[in-house]
Amino acid sequence: MAKTLHVKTYGCQMNVYDSARMADVLAPHGYTPSEVPEGADLIILNTCHIREKATEKVYSELGRLRLLKEAAARDGRQVLIGVAGCVAQAEGEEIVRRAPTVDLVFGPQTYHRLPELVARATERGTSGGSGVVDTDFPVESKFDHLPEENGAHGPAAFLSVQEGCDKFCTFCVVPYTRGAEFSRPVDAIEAEANRLVAGGAMEITLLGQNVNAYHGAGPDGRVWGLGALLRRLAEIEGLKRLRYTTSHPRDVDDALIAAHRDVDTVMPYLHLPVQSGADRVLAAMNRKHTADDYRRVVDRLRAARSDLAFSSDFIVGFPGETDADFVETLRLVREIGYAQAYSFKYSARPGTPAAVLNDQIPEDVKADRLEALQQLLNAQQLAFNQASVGGVQAVLFERRGRREGQLVGRGPWMQAVHVQAPERLLGRQLLVRIDDGRANSLAGTVVTGEMPRIDRELSSNAERAIA
Ligand code: SAH
Ligand code: SF4
Ligand code: F3S
Repeated sequence: MAKTLHVKTYGCQMNVYDSARMADVLAPHGYTPSEVPEGADLIILNTCHIREKATEKVYSELGRLRLLKEAAARDGRQVLIGVAGCVAQAEGEEIVRRAPTVDLVFGPQTYHRLPELVARATERGTSGGSGVVDTDFPVESKFDHLPEENGAHGPAAFLSVQEGCDKFCTFCVVPYTRGAEFSRPVDAIEAEANRLVAGGAMEITLLGQNVNAYHGAGPDGRVWGLGALLRRLAEIEGLKRLRYTTSHPRDVDDALIAAHRDVDTVMPYLHLPVQSGADRVLAAMNRKHTADDYRRVVDRLRAARSDLAFSSDFIVGFPGETDADFVETLRLVREIGYAQAYSFKYSARPGTPAAVLNDQIPEDVKADRLEALQQLLNAQQLAFNQASVGGVQAVLFERRGRREGQLVGRGPWMQAVHVQAPERLLGRQLLVRIDDGRANSLAGTVVTGEMPRIDRELSSNAERAIA
């Protein structure tokens, strides 16, 4: 029987990828995706556990969904509610205790078993009993059991190549929620990339919690790193842009730097989180690099590709962080010069080593530091965007804008670019002259026909911005 599925996604791009794959798993079982929860037969929240706020959002959403489910039951219609992702993995049984409305709970590594879980949950819906929970880290890899993707992606697609993390930064839940590092084989990634491109993707972002720790089995029987993988994928006809996220500064190796130097398809923008500029804090975070290590990596990458722009994540108010430590972070930010960045107040996560450290920082101090850091980062972002004005960039148009006749795309440096242009240009990459640089986006005008590939000369403007 035809049924509808609504998946609401929280957290990182890996969750976005997983949500799409959940729909792929359920499609042969009669589920078609729905944009809204109203009327859906199965509602899945694909959750994020990274900060306390992210987790709390899930419980408030479950409160709303309970009402929807009860209303449907009054009409004699069964609605199943599932919780997936990192909260599911971290809290498991606790979720069905706290929110008995939940029918199934499953982690990021078990969603290939969804048809069976849904069948069991359907039964419990009619017979009563508690929700179905599956938070295994199975020996089999879900990737070996997932069906081929349905191809419902835009011109820019995601592809998970690596999962999990063995770094154990002391603030972070990811090693616990996603499990140990795992890399997919090169052949499987290449086959998926080929399908994505055949389905219209011009840009692929390779995903992994620690993507540059990638070490997958190569077709030659050796272990390949991310640099080699990028070179291989760059050969795919029709693929115009490659990106990858998220990287760890420790795992930037020579081959990866060389790929940035040699492969034009690899976009000149890199999200490379540093978290803090103070060595004392970095050591307490177990980041396994110093601030100078980070500076050196950035220098080497810029030497390989001078127009490379950087983004980062920062945590302020990590336990024990002093004013002097925080000043070190500001100093690092001034030195590097970011095109964009994300910054967060430290959030103590149950089960992580930092949560039980002494010297937790008061909320108001965290808030002050966050504001000061964000002021600096915002100013850098605005300067970067304004330096793009007058230049010409290749923009890949991904979606309609909010205004009539407007399209939104991304330039090589990840900024959103707004133009007035006919809808037939969606899904194409065109040259755009940048007319305006704002806090969070650019505006421009299409200047010429479609371009076959990124031309490095176009980057000179952004180069000035970061010089
Ligand atoms: N794998 C990536 C990012 C993982 S989570 C990396 O290693 O950088 C994304 C970001 O969330 C992190 O970079 C960090 O800045 C932030 N984050 C993680 N745990 C946090 C916590 N407990 N409190 C506040 N921010 C956190
Ligand atoms: Fe978390 Fe650190 Fe792993 Fe990133 S490298 S996922 S911050 S433990
Ligand atoms: Fe969140 Fe899990 Fe991603 S905790 S950031 S959804 S890996």
